[in-house]
Amino acid sequence: MGRRGHKKQKAFKRATVDAVRKARIEKQQGQNGQSTANGDEATADDRPRVSTYDDIVKENALFEKYYKEMHLVPDNEWDAFLAALKEPLPVTFRVTGFRSHAFAVMHLIRERYFQPLESSTAIEKPKELVWYPGSLAWQLNLSRNQLRNFPELQRLKEFLYEQTEHGNISRQEAVSMIPPLVLDIQPHHKILDMCAAPGSKTAQIIECLHRDETNPIPSGFVIANDVDNKRCYTLVHQVKRLESPCFAIINHDASNLPNLKFNDENISFDRILCDVPCSGDGTLRKNPDLWKKWNPGHAFSLQSIQLRIATRGIQLLAPGGLMVYSTCSMNPVENESIVAQLLQTFEGHISLVDISDKLPGLQTIPGLTKWCIMGKNKEVYNSYEEVPPHMQSLARPNMFPPSQDILERLHLERCIRLLPHHQNTGAFFVALFRKLDKTVEVSSTQEETSQKRPAEEITFNEDGANFKRARYHRENPFIFFNENDITGFWQEISEFFGVDPSFPADQMMTRHAADSGRNIYFVSDSLKQIVTLNQDRIKFINMGVRLLVRTDLRNDKDKRSLRLSQEGIAIVNKYFTKRRIEIEEQDLIILLSHAFTHYANVSQSVQKQLENMSQDLGSTICTFTIKQHNLEVPIIFVAWRGRSSFRPFVSHSSRKFYLSLLNIDHSTINDIIEKLTIEEKASNEPRIEGKTNNDPKIEDS
Ligand SMILES: C[S@@+](CC[C@H](N)C(=O)[O-])C[C@H]1O[C@@H](n2cnc3c(N)ncnc32)[C@H](O)[C@@H]1O
Repeated sequence: MGRRGHKKQKAFKRATVDAVRKARIEKQQGQNGQSTANGDEATADDRPRVSTYDDIVKENALFEKYYKEMHLVPDNEWDAFLAALKEPLPVTFRVTGFRSHAFAVMHLIRERYFQPLESSTAIEKPKELVWYPGSLAWQLNLSRNQLRNFPELQRLKEFLYEQTEHGNISRQEAVSMIPPLVLDIQPHHKILDMCAAPGSKTAQIIECLHRDETNPIPSGFVIANDVDNKRCYTLVHQVKRLESPCFAIINHDASNLPNLKFNDENISFDRILCDVPCSGDGTLRKNPDLWKKWNPGHAFSLQSIQLRIATRGIQLLAPGGLMVYSTCSMNPVENESIVAQLLQTFEGHISLVDISDKLPGLQTIPGLTKWCIMGKNKEVYNSYEEVPPHMQSLARPNMFPPSQDILERLHLERCIRLLPHHQNTGAFFVALFRKLDKTVEVSSTQEETSQKRPAEEITFNEDGANFKRARYHRENPFIFFNENDITGFWQEISEFFGVDPSFPADQMMTRHAADSGRNIYFVSDSLKQIVTLNQDRIKFINMGVRLLVRTDLRNDKDKRSLRLSQEGIAIVNKYFTKRRIEIEEQDLIILLSHAFTHYANVSQSVQKQLENMSQDLGSTICTFTIKQHNLEVPIIFVAWRGRSSFRPFVSHSSRKFYLSLLNIDHSTINDIIEKLTIEEKASNEPRIEGKTNNDPKIEDS
């Protein structure tokens, strides 16, 4: 074999070894709760399981001994606690989005889906999560299996799936909704979500930021981070549904998160969510495989990274700001021990906020002030002094409760714990910190390490023979519109759509040169600053809303080769004054029922508006307000004006939702969608899936 052959073989061997190592790490991360036991709904739901729920032996002697020994639950509740852990978790969901929409969705659910359940004695009635604001979160006391088996629930199940796709519903564990609620988020807050994927809590935070329906561009923002590159893309999918120009997703180790520059200084965040990776035994009901895997060492191996992430969080918190620390683990080594350590490290600068009555109706127990740790052979230690030498490399002094006098100062009882048998939930831990002043400085070593890039990633070509080491998978840069773009090619587009002069065109960006990028995105002013000032040091994955999409039209007029994206409709609605059509109820029904609607079939009023509008082909903005039950629900969607027909860019799930709001019954809606699908197939048009799908072809002739 020649020299080159040897080199090739060596490279292949190295690549293979690295690949095996990477796979092992990923598997380990899964076991560490980073990708399996993470308390979220988005990834766990449809994961294929090796054994069925009922096959699994839900027992673990070490688990029982450990938690019983430390009196995690009052003795007289132990049996109920254990029994609840062995039951499947009920389905919980919350209604998302702007208030008017959310209340309309909730009204629909009550009238159309909850009411028929009233008469059935076999089904437990849906239960409101009373501590969740606005009566918008519900629990269905049924396992997913049962849900599938009860015909009365089929329609509700279908609705929940569809509306999750539409972005109206978020299926999320009840306890996982708590951390964002205690943060008391306001639209002007600068927020950091340190370990954000898959993003159910990030979505909740973004919703709070947009609580003022009249302002689609709040001044606050969310920086959502996760160390796992793949999970960052799950996060993208989750938050894109919310159509917010105020979020950015970044990919770093949160324990070493670099400082982010903003307004000539490093950002201090008003609110931080620190929902760390954990051993996840609070999710036993959802992930019963954990029964056989549980061992006390799991918590030991995670404590150090949990503490480092939370420490970095406190450093990045603004004076007066709030940071919530949460886990879906019951183990005090991952919970109270971290809280105690933080309170001691930052003594005088942070305090623990009592959140026991922050959410009226939520049943909690206080944080523990006494606990023990356990070795592999069931031996229990109450203090570090008791730990034998062979265990001392595993157990650290800070895993134990501090001395009594220190404990009294810390008020660990202000943390809250959620137990599964109290309100039929998973188990959870939450602590809320307030930062008192600005005297906690970032140490120079921390500052140095925090400038590090994300972990190295290795890329292979197909045969694995050649590989190059990349520092990380590079994203295309985000390029904002400059003066030339705004006074140049944008002018014509702006005129075409009648863009209001107050529109901040310099907040648009592409991933290529501005005049050739396929997608044009829009971000808030603050986010633009953050990206511009930090792009060289921070790995931004995604941000903002897609406003315009370049079509494949063979036409050299830019104004016609860009179409509006439904994702940016709130911004478009505020600033784009031309090509707007106020439709009537009958138009809405026709448009939603067909892939294309011929102009002869729309109302006189719409026909007139079309005559008065420029005759150019291109995007139009259709608006209608559904008024019912004291609610006004604005419906705004993009449609393509073709030569002889309209094509609305509305997904099937959105069509079903709008048709339901118009009081059209379930089976008629299903018939409509069936016919629509046939029409789409006949015209060779791909179905519009979600709100952020690739674009279907456009009628241009
Ligand atoms: C419990 S999950 C977060 C769930 C998420 N907050 C939600 O509500 O959807 C923990 C996350 O932490 C991430 N993670 C693990 N180690 C990390 C680190 N050092 N820095 C940032 N993220 C990390 C994992 O990839 C995982 O996505």
